[in-house]
Amino acid sequence: MSSPIPVTLLFADGVSHRLSVPCGGNLVESANEAGIHLLTDCSNGQCGTCTAQLVSGSVDLDDYDRAVLPDDDRACGTVLPCVCRVNSACAIELPYDSSEALSEEPVPIAAEVTAVEQVASETVRLEVKVPQAVVFEPGQYVRITPAGADYHRSYSMANVPGTDRLQFFIRLVPGGAFSEWLAGAKAGDPVELSSPHGTFFLRHEERPRLFVAGGTGVAPFLSMLRAMAAHPPAHRTTFLIGARTPGHLFALDELKQLGEQLEGVDLQIAVEQDAQPGCHAGYATDLIPQLGLDPSTRVYLCGPPPMVEAGRRAAEAAGLKRADVLCERFA
Ligand SMILES: Cc1cc2nc3c(=O)[nH]c(=O)nc-3n(C[C@H](O)[C@H](O)[C@H](O)COP(=O)(O)OP(=O)(O)OC[C@H]3O[C@@H](n4cnc5c(N)ncnc54)[C@H](O)[C@@H]3O)c2cc1C
Ligand code: FES
Repeated sequence: MSSPIPVTLLFADGVSHRLSVPCGGNLVESANEAGIHLLTDCSNGQCGTCTAQLVSGSVDLDDYDRAVLPDDDRACGTVLPCVCRVNSACAIELPYDSSEALSEEPVPIAAEVTAVEQVASETVRLEVKVPQAVVFEPGQYVRITPAGADYHRSYSMANVPGTDRLQFFIRLVPGGAFSEWLAGAKAGDPVELSSPHGTFFLRHEERPRLFVAGGTGVAPFLSMLRAMAAHPPAHRTTFLIGARTPGHLFALDELKQLGEQLEGVDLQIAVEQDAQPGCHAGYATDLIPQLGLDPSTRVYLCGPPPMVEAGRRAAEAAGLKRADVLCERFA
């Protein structure tokens, strides 16, 4: 029998942990057995939530979506721990603090649906009431489990942190388990929420920002802009929103209001079909090359994986550093 293989996990707060993984073992499962709960969502290489960086050695990856981990990122050492098979000693850098992985998942929060409202084609606003205000970083998400369901799905809060009403904007996916539950959900229905998670959150830093959202990817930016309205930043924020048709756009009045309140927010909209005057006909990411971005810009991309990938490539082509681009994929 081959001996276990040492793997070093390096967390963003400087804490490191050494694991022993059976040869060919799955990294996330082995870490779990050792009491280290790496951040995951789909657990099968489809969402990018677990994205990490290999800093030494090598790993093999089971099947994954190339839109989530493009080949050039893979060549630069980016890996998806949920599909990592360990066959030789290696070290992997995680983009979050050790406290995220070492604490046991707290008891789920018992919450109650207070509103379900269709706000655009295929998009529903879900509001839930929690017993105590939930503190999170604007941009983070929770996992929601409908009462009695044996699955959960991740959704980004659109509200500001620290309130007892959480708001979500959710696209109804045909045949999707949560989507089907949501289509019949009503006020008073119980749900369970995880604690907030995620590394896609607003960084408090003095530099220009570029937000790019596709579809319901607008949700975390609503939370960020609502939070920014309390402390307007000195630097400009450009916000590009992409949707399939004008009927798929939502929360526009509030976004325009927030833009005016924050002064330095430049909101631009792109729709793929039936573009009205004032809207770009095409993808939001088409607009990136024309923005003349300051090289110090921090980029936030959120939405379907192909949009996120197109945005990342356009930002890099515009001279921005890969490390300055944050991505959240709604896979
Ligand atoms: C960090 C994060 C944050 C997110 N935030 C948001 C958000 O704020 N808003 C939002 O709208 N989305 C968000 N998402 C996406 C969300 O978590 C779900 O993936 C999405 O809502 C679909 O869930 P569902 O249960 O309706 O569909 P699923 O049940 O997951 O199904 C997805 C697709 O697979 C198909 N499918 C399901 N089962 C099978 C099967 N057995 N065989 C073949 N096909 C099948 C379905 O028909 C459907 O097309 C987020 C995702 C992540 C990772
Ligand atoms: S958890 Fe690894 S890609 Fe989704």
